[in-house]
Amino acid sequence: MRAKLIAGNWKMNLGKADSLTLAHDLIHKIPKHSKAQVLLIPTFLHLDAVAHVVAKSHLLLGAQDVYFEKTGAFTGEISAGMLLELGVSHVLIGHSERRHVLHETDAVLNKKLLAATAEKLVAIYCIGETLQERDAGKTAEVLQHQLKAGLVHLSHDVIEKGHLVIAYEPVWAIGTGHTATPEHAQETHAFIRARLSEILTPELAAAIRIQYGGSVKKSNAAELLAKPDVDGLLVGGASLIADEFAAIVQAAG
Ligand code: PGA
Repeated sequence: MRAKLIAGNWKMNLGKADSLTLAHDLIHKIPKHSKAQVLLIPTFLHLDAVAHVVAKSHLLLGAQDVYFEKTGAFTGEISAGMLLELGVSHVLIGHSERRHVLHETDAVLNKKLLAATAEKLVAIYCIGETLQERDAGKTAEVLQHQLKAGLVHLSHDVIEKGHLVIAYEPVWAIGTGHTATPEHAQETHAFIRARLSEILTPELAAAIRIQYGGSVKKSNAAELLAKPDVDGLLVGGASLIADEFAAIVQAAG
């Protein structure tokens, strides 16, 4: 059984006071017995403060990125060990904004994935095709390439421990209001699982959780989560509104 993972990626949207209020509100609005794991992903700058709010609660804490070196002269960067120290358990790697706005390469993302999982963080490795790639009929090729390149040298042990999550986020659906249909999401997730099965083993592929992300709202969460290969959601805009995000979590049961 793959426990559903619902994550709220706050991106660079909230100041400190709003971040703390949102975290407080979510602790109250999301039931403790919720079957899904719930993850809040504030900006680096507010991780420490939010960590204090969610400590000992049923909510988990994630970071939006990580650097692959452990320590040293890397101005502006943050290591996996530093995140761990703050109580962070999960980290996004290769979010489409990092790939396309910050131009992170597959080679860099692979190093980040290895560094994060070496410190026992759960890596949420994001993949997805752009509109241009989709229109050119290249979706399968792009996803396969991102999976292969990202997972190089990742040990099976890391995956067996549940430290790898894949997030399928079609870039054309992020922040656009154009959600993939549940059928499209299921078809693509099944494709991703089949590729994971070839790259890894069928057993490992069956255990890996695959989240969907891209304009998820309370109105479409339940139908996406009803699909057998949709193991959770990565939510951007709708995770900034406590009632909306709590309703999305509720859709997971
Ligand atoms: P969105 O963002 O829900 O605002 O489309 C999703 C994401 O970028 O993870």
